[in-house]
Amino acid sequence: MTTITTSLENNILTVTINRPDKLNAINKDVMSDLDSVVNEIYINKEIRSAVITGSGQKAFIAGADITEFLGLSAEEGMAIAKKGADIFTRIEHASKPIIAAVHGFALGGGCELAMACHFRIATEAAKFGQPEVNLGLIPGYGGTQRLVQLVGKGRALELLMSGAMIDAKTAHQYGLVNHVVATQEELLPKCYEVLGVINSKAPLAIAKVIEAANAVYNEAKNGHHIELEGFANCFVTEDMKEGTTAFLEKRKAVFTGK
Ligand code: COA
Repeated sequence: MTTITTSLENNILTVTINRPDKLNAINKDVMSDLDSVVNEIYINKEIRSAVITGSGQKAFIAGADITEFLGLSAEEGMAIAKKGADIFTRIEHASKPIIAAVHGFALGGGCELAMACHFRIATEAAKFGQPEVNLGLIPGYGGTQRLVQLVGKGRALELLMSGAMIDAKTAHQYGLVNHVVATQEELLPKCYEVLGVINSKAPLAIAKVIEAANAVYNEAKNGHHIELEGFANCFVTEDMKEGTTAFLEKRKAVFTGK
C-alpha cells in the first residue's frame, strides 16, 4: 500500500490515510488501498476493531480527488461511485467496530467515509460537509442516504443543498459525532479508550448488535426479526455462557469469540 499506513496494537487496527499534501483526498490509489484494508479487517482474527483517521494537521479527508473527475462519462462516474459505495458499505456492515477519528476537514467523500463508520469521534477543529454541489455534483458514496439517517432530513438537506460546513460543536449537537476532544493529541487515545471497552465484550454479540442496528435502515430486512434471531443464537455461544456465569460468580468475564 502506498497511500495508507496501518498499525495493530491491542487488537485495534489504526488506519491512516496518508496524502497530507492533498489533504488526504481519496484518489484511485487510496480507494484501492482502502479496499485491501477492509478485506484485512474482515479476515484477520487479530483485529477486533479499527479506527480510520487522516495524516497531518489539516484534514481527515477533504473529499474524493477532484483532479480525477474532469472529463469522465456518466458510465465512468457510475463505476467510480459503485466502487467507493461498495467499499463504504462493507465498512458499515463489518462485524467488528470501525470508527472514524476526525480532525480538520471531513468533506465530500471524507464525510461519507466517516459516516460509513459505525460512529465518529472528532476534535474541536473538525469540520464536516458535503460540498459536492459547489462542483455541480452530488455525493456518490452513500452521503445522501447516511446523512439523512444520522442527522435527519431537514438538517441533511440543508447541508447537501448549501454545501456548507459545520464545526464539531454543531456536528455533536446534530448527533453526527459521539465525542469531541479538545486537541488532536487526545483524539486517538479517546478512540482507543472507547474501542478498548467494546473489545472487552463478546465479539459475536458485538457482530449481532451491528447487524441488527444496520437492519433499521434496510427495507429488505426485518430488523426486529434479525434481533430475535441474533438474541436466540447468542445462547449457543461459549461467550454467552461465560458472560452469564461470570456475572453470577461475581467475576470479570473472559471472552474468546466462540
Ligand atoms: N481533491 C484534490 N485535491 C485536493 C482536494 C480534493 N478534494 N482537497 C484539497 N486538495 C489539494 C489542493 O488542491 C491543494 O493541492 P496543491 O497544494 O497541489 O494546490 C492541497 O490539497 C491543499 O489544499 P488547499 O485548497 O490549498 O487548502 P486550503 O486550506 O486553502 O483549503 C479546503 C482547504 C478543504 C477548503 C479546500 O482544499 C477545498 O475546498 N477542497 C475541496 C473540498 C471538496 O470539494 N470536496 C469534495 C470533493 S467531491
